[in-house]
Amino acid sequence: MFKCIFRKDHIYKCLLNGEWVESKSGKTNKIFSPADGSFLGELQAMGLEEADRFILTAKAAQKSWGDTAVNERAQILHKAAEILDKQKDIIANVIVKEIAKNKKTALSEVERSVDYIHFTAEEGMRVSGENLSSDVFPGFNNKKLSIISRVPLGVVLAVSPFNYPVNLSASKIAPALIAGNAVVFKPPTQGAISALYLARVFCEAGIPAGVLNVITGQGREIGDYLVKHPDINMVNFTGSSSVGRHIAEIAGMKPLLLELGGKDAAIVLEDADISFAAKNIVSGAYSYSGQRCTAVKRILVLESIADNLVDEMLPLVKKLSVGNPADDADITPLISDAAADFVQGIIDDARQKGAKLLFGDQREKNLIYPTLFDHVTVDMRLAWEEPFGPVLPIIRVKSIEEAIDISNRSEYGLQACIFTQDIDNAFDIASKLDVGTVQINNKSERGPDHFPFGGVKSSGLGTQGIRYSIEAMSRSKAVVINFK
Ligand code: NAP
Ligand code: G3H
Repeated sequence: MFKCIFRKDHIYKCLLNGEWVESKSGKTNKIFSPADGSFLGELQAMGLEEADRFILTAKAAQKSWGDTAVNERAQILHKAAEILDKQKDIIANVIVKEIAKNKKTALSEVERSVDYIHFTAEEGMRVSGENLSSDVFPGFNNKKLSIISRVPLGVVLAVSPFNYPVNLSASKIAPALIAGNAVVFKPPTQGAISALYLARVFCEAGIPAGVLNVITGQGREIGDYLVKHPDINMVNFTGSSSVGRHIAEIAGMKPLLLELGGKDAAIVLEDADISFAAKNIVSGAYSYSGQRCTAVKRILVLESIADNLVDEMLPLVKKLSVGNPADDADITPLISDAAADFVQGIIDDARQKGAKLLFGDQREKNLIYPTLFDHVTVDMRLAWEEPFGPVLPIIRVKSIEEAIDISNRSEYGLQACIFTQDIDNAFDIASKLDVGTVQINNKSERGPDHFPFGGVKSSGLGTQGIRYSIEAMSRSKAVVINFK
């Protein structure tokens, strides 16, 4: 069993070969709460020369982990999930402070991760290979049998974003481990404290030394080095499209799983249940202050019913509570002042270009009040850019074709939603939308976590979802028996 002392006073350490270690340089990054500016702790700022040790340790440990029986790997994952469940309240409180997510949502992030890890342990037991006989291919008899099994890729680099520091870390680490890989985990700098609590859970569950290693440091300083390192065999990244695109350019021939940004459209048709659509859209757009890749980020509504939709939505938006994440406010401060400046720039552009402000455009430092615009047009940044904040545009369209066209003209292609009572029409529109997932009569969302989840265009590469993630982090290996 390892020593799980992962911090000394306010200084958090990295996990290397089963030990919690500090950077030799003594450099740290200070972390403050976006909710109230309070000091939360210091993270190790590992340098490039130290990064090698994390990767080489993982490489050395992977062989015996890969040879460990799947049911033993699964037992460790189940244990980790049980420990995480016991610590959920402590960890949720860390999330509340570190990324200003409200308590209820932070708790559900941890609970969802508990379920995710248990399910992954089960699913890993069910992943199996296949046998193929040669005689089904023209010109071959039955003298060849291909026995195909799934084997690990080696060392997986897992990089997660700030907005789900526990869940989007667990959803990389757990499938990588059950598939027999070792992991080098680089959490987001703002979010790393929560992520280190998760890593400690895996330690307490008895993950062998070196199988999971956690390195902290600014992505812009150590990210490229980690991605390009010859002993990293796969990169599993969730974050912005710009960093994702950069990773794709420098990764060489490494397999990639990239889950990136989005601009999910909610298409509201004339026969929709408007009150139901309004509730769904408001909750989809403003939860965690819009800082979700799957947040509803634009409404494309038929002109004839647009006023009705506005009438239903406006009271709901006005009712959203604004304030402190610890008090469970709906709208909380954004992750940084820079993020709020970016959102404000998009709001200002929409106002200057003549969008009708229905509510909001109020700001206190990094706290942006819920903001709703009507009559947004395609020359405005708000029609195309991902704000990652609580601002939602209504774009009025003349026809379904125009809605499909605007939806598809986006550089993103994560999800889209259609609100209608006509299932035939819904399927027809769904077939024309250039996205990873279409939701019929629901807001866009990733879960349940065994569903496939992935985007096209600037929204990503490859598919997550428990079985899909295990498959993405393993490969098939064939042994062919040639009979006499
Ligand atoms: P980000 O700035 O791209 O950062 C994501 C992660 O990448 C962080 O851990 C960051 O480290 C690291 N990083 C930065 N530069 C790197 C490099 N050169 N090489 C390797 N890693 C590097 O994204 P974010 O602000 O945390 O998250 C918001 C974005 O993520 C939004 O666009 C959102 O839509 C997207 N997102 C997508 C999904 C999805 O499933 N599709 C889910 C969640 C979020 P540092 O923190 O140290 O900079
Ligand atoms: O932020 C991106 C997440 O993958 C969204 O997950 O739809 O469960 O909030 P969610």
